[in-house]
Amino acid sequence: MCGIVGYIGNRQAAPILLDGLGKLEYRGYDSAGIAVYNEGKIDMIKSKGRLKVLSELTHDGATLEGTMGIGHTRWATHGSPSDVNAHPHFNADKSIVVVHNGIIENYLKLKKKLKKRDYQFVSETDTEVIAHLLDYYYQGNPLEAITKIMHRMEGSYALGIMFKDHPDQLYAVRKDSPLIVGHTDGGCIIASDVPAVLRYTRDVYFIENEEIVRMTADSMEFFNVDEEPIVKEPVRIEWDVNAAEKGGYEHFMLKEMYEQPKAVMDTFSPRIKGSQIEIEELGMTEEEIRKLRKIMIVACGSASHVGHTSKYILEGLARLPVEVDMASEFRYRNPILDEQTLVVVISQSGETADTLAALRQAKKMGARVLGIVNVVGSSIAREADNVMYTWAGPEIAVATTKAYSAQLTAMYLLAMKFGKARGLLREDELQEMLGSLKALPAQIEMILSNREKIQKFANRYLAARDIFFIGRGIDHAISMEGSLKLKEISYIHSEAYAAGELKHGTISLVEEGTLVAAVLTQKELYKKMISNMEEVRTRGAFVMAVTVEGNTEVEKAADYVIYIPETNKYFTNSLAIIPLQLFAYYIAVGRGCDVDKPRNLAKSVTVE
Ligand code: F6R
Repeated sequence: MCGIVGYIGNRQAAPILLDGLGKLEYRGYDSAGIAVYNEGKIDMIKSKGRLKVLSELTHDGATLEGTMGIGHTRWATHGSPSDVNAHPHFNADKSIVVVHNGIIENYLKLKKKLKKRDYQFVSETDTEVIAHLLDYYYQGNPLEAITKIMHRMEGSYALGIMFKDHPDQLYAVRKDSPLIVGHTDGGCIIASDVPAVLRYTRDVYFIENEEIVRMTADSMEFFNVDEEPIVKEPVRIEWDVNAAEKGGYEHFMLKEMYEQPKAVMDTFSPRIKGSQIEIEELGMTEEEIRKLRKIMIVACGSASHVGHTSKYILEGLARLPVEVDMASEFRYRNPILDEQTLVVVISQSGETADTLAALRQAKKMGARVLGIVNVVGSSIAREADNVMYTWAGPEIAVATTKAYSAQLTAMYLLAMKFGKARGLLREDELQEMLGSLKALPAQIEMILSNREKIQKFANRYLAARDIFFIGRGIDHAISMEGSLKLKEISYIHSEAYAAGELKHGTISLVEEGTLVAAVLTQKELYKKMISNMEEVRTRGAFVMAVTVEGNTEVEKAADYVIYIPETNKYFTNSLAIIPLQLFAYYIAVGRGCDVDKPRNLAKSVTVE
């Protein structure tokens, strides 16, 4: 959703900016640009297309000299992807330059006013308004001009700003879009996300809403919107630098799929002490857990699919009613909640605008909010009442895999903890479940080691037009994720259906040769699923089944079967999703798609 970077220091800025943008390209990749201050002027190069185009244009940064600069990688919101709409954006005399992540909601109104004062616009973006607005208010004091525009702008923004007549100062400011800053050896760096700075520093400052940073090569000062200095403490980031590199894998997605055993283990290990689950960060006593009347899980995309799986588990183990809501809908339906409702928001990035808005709404309505978040220090992590981190490390591929698996793991722990606290899960049952949980990493590894078999099968379906996924209960939730993975990276149309729902309309879409992926991991539903598989097969479908070892009966209704190892019935998602991820991945690779950066998509959706 656009990534910004900035650097001021004693090294050449352009290569550092390009390197940082490379780590942020997952946030948007339809155009990119950088601006560097050089001997009394600001030089800028920007272009439509991937960052590669910009790297070529600048000879890897060599053609832009200077030790202070800002950069941007764009996911278009206002204005189509084009050279002219690419950031950075200048004011008229090129003395102020801006990069922006976010949306200025009142930009049309501001633009109209500026036009009346003879400001000329060259792009269709909301960001160009910021450059001109700064120009309008600027009277020699950058901080003053920045605070003035903050009072005028509505919407979200993380900005990097340079003023030509302050060549030793770089400015950054934030409202509702992520922004971090850090000291590096002989300089300061700003970025939208941690992977961009990891190579340069591990101690970062998370900029809060309406905070401004003024940086020089060797200092960093923070201010509030009233221009008053504020004191901030850095947060140490423990992520491995190599975690944000491909490390020999063809794609980040493949690498991240292979990191799933570790992500799962790192998420449960610190929370199993002795033979009990301890989630200190939950901040709830057993008494408080017992008093809960309802759980609402709010998230977007794959994270909401984790919510759908968790509904079955929490309701099964803790007998608490669970509602799952898409974050983008939550605040528009006047949800019913109170102090006895626990709202669980799930987010890898911790910055998804809809999820953040839902969190704020839930808090306003008196609910307690627990965040299940991957990015340490992100907005959702900071604003939730309590945060339980998923320890998946940085996830770069747009399609989530390891963060999804880590989110599932966190929800398993939560469900078991609640079941135990509410006296519904016996000690022997808990111990058996913990045994199964600990076995998951090795089982995931085992499934991954069979990837060639899935690759061969996937190669037969490269030309498919539609692929359907069906399942019942938890298996429906797994199907939703399998289907999303496939369509988002391969561009093959796909839908997931509750298997029993097919004959209420969807089955008319099945024709000779249509691939139907059936997920059946729940013993008590095998027979029903086999009937549904037979229904589609008699209508010409080719049925691929994902089921648990030993369920050989499935072979009579399937054309191709993938077996996963046996586990606790509540944990099957963690295993069944692996072949579906591999299937989606190999179909996308076979079709020549850009697996890590699917068209039109961006990771971390910081706009509504
Ligand atoms: C799909 C995918 C998205 C995200 C969704 C929420 O592969 O990654 O559907 O799950 O955009 O993002 P976060 O978890 O960052 O809130």
